[in-house]
Amino acid sequence: MSTVVDLRDDAEQVSRAAADYFIRAAREAVLRSGRFRVALAGGSTPRRMYQLLAEPERASQVDWSKVDFFWGDERTVGPDHADSNYRMARDAFLAPLGITSAQIIRMAAEKADLAAAAREYQVQIARMFGVPADGPPPAFDLILAGMGKDGHTLSLFPHTQALEEGERWVVENEVPQQQTRRMTFSARLTNRALRVLFVVAGPDKQPALAQVLEGVSNPSEYPSQLISARETTWLVDRAAAGALKRTRPVVRRPVLLAPSILAADFLKLGEEIRAVDAAGADRIHIDVMDGHFVPNISFGAVVCQAARRATTRPLECHLMISEPDRYLDAFAEAGADSILVHVEGANNLHRTLQRIRSLGKGVGVVLNPATPAGAIREVLELVDLVLVMTVNPGFGGQSFVPATLSKIRQIRAWIDEYHPACELEVDGGIDPRTAPLAVEAGANILVAGSAIFGAQDGIPAAINRLNGVSRV
Ligand code: DX5
Ligand code: ZN
Repeated sequence: MSTVVDLRDDAEQVSRAAADYFIRAAREAVLRSGRFRVALAGGSTPRRMYQLLAEPERASQVDWSKVDFFWGDERTVGPDHADSNYRMARDAFLAPLGITSAQIIRMAAEKADLAAAAREYQVQIARMFGVPADGPPPAFDLILAGMGKDGHTLSLFPHTQALEEGERWVVENEVPQQQTRRMTFSARLTNRALRVLFVVAGPDKQPALAQVLEGVSNPSEYPSQLISARETTWLVDRAAAGALKRTRPVVRRPVLLAPSILAADFLKLGEEIRAVDAAGADRIHIDVMDGHFVPNISFGAVVCQAARRATTRPLECHLMISEPDRYLDAFAEAGADSILVHVEGANNLHRTLQRIRSLGKGVGVVLNPATPAGAIREVLELVDLVLVMTVNPGFGGQSFVPATLSKIRQIRAWIDEYHPACELEVDGGIDPRTAPLAVEAGANILVAGSAIFGAQDGIPAAINRLNGVSRV
């Protein structure tokens, strides 16, 4: 679970950032599962976000045919009523984008029997996700949420029955303080989501936001405290965040490119290294493989030595080898600027990292896709770089593993909190489609082999393309 507070100047900037977040979440979901299932929110800030998504510049970035739209809550009004959350979204972007009715799963909260309507909505959700309606809730790719000045979210209002719901995914909720009833996702369903995005703007939200994010736990008073998804992002403006103590604007880092020479033409390796150097590569990534730690053999320190003569760019040696301690000196003497070793391949990782440091080289630690982020938590402050493998190591040209994105986000959160100077690199299947996802998750260095050396239109175009899509 991670909670990120992303501070923006004003409501318009919050809406713009939220629209861009939506686009990235959609891309990631479609890459991962082929569909993007999102629950929309009501309110003025979401409305502006929807309008921005309907504009050609942003609309063209989403394959809308792969999106299924739900609502996280609804008032007890019909679909054409001025207060309807459905109507607001329909008018702001669903109709302008020509979204088909099959993709729109509306909460029929106008029905007299609200409990039955909530049950029916749960059945519809189950059907769309292809899961039993009485099992554990499915995981929405994204649930959008606002926050009221009383700290409510969705239609989970302070001291109302819905806060206690421990089973159902969707419930009816009596809201005496508003003399109304609502239909709403329960916290149980909401917290199963891969991502929850709160959008909060305006000075009237300031006291509640400080209580929700930094006050003592009191969810019956501040129901937004009930929400903690795999990744919870609060996009807030300065007016709403004025009373927060711990908000740092999310740092936007320059994204660096590290071409992997594993994919270069070995018949002209020097030329290829000079070509990526001239095209603006920030460093050269040297993939060393021993045929034991990974099922492939590439090259040893002698190639690092040769690369040293071809470029002045930093050389980072990614040692995909067993017992890397045996070769640290050789790569240090061959001209490596940094040496990256795998958690999985070091008998005593802490000592190995210290040894690299003692050689005066940059220190990197690497995790394979199956290795949890926690495996590097104890050595994070020792290293200059964490490399998250986004493929299983051994070969170039493999497909990106989307499940690594949540690990990247987790490690980014730790770096921002405990070791801000540390770099976060990804390696494997990085191309113009996956690069923005990795950057949005928190990577600031991209290793790419086939996307650069294998590009039909040549190295400069390939590097420009990757640079272009990596500005988040
Ligand atoms: C481990 C190697 C590859 C390489 C990148 O397999 O580390 O990931 O650098 O190769 P591409 O960019 O072609 O996936
Ligand atoms: Zn590598």
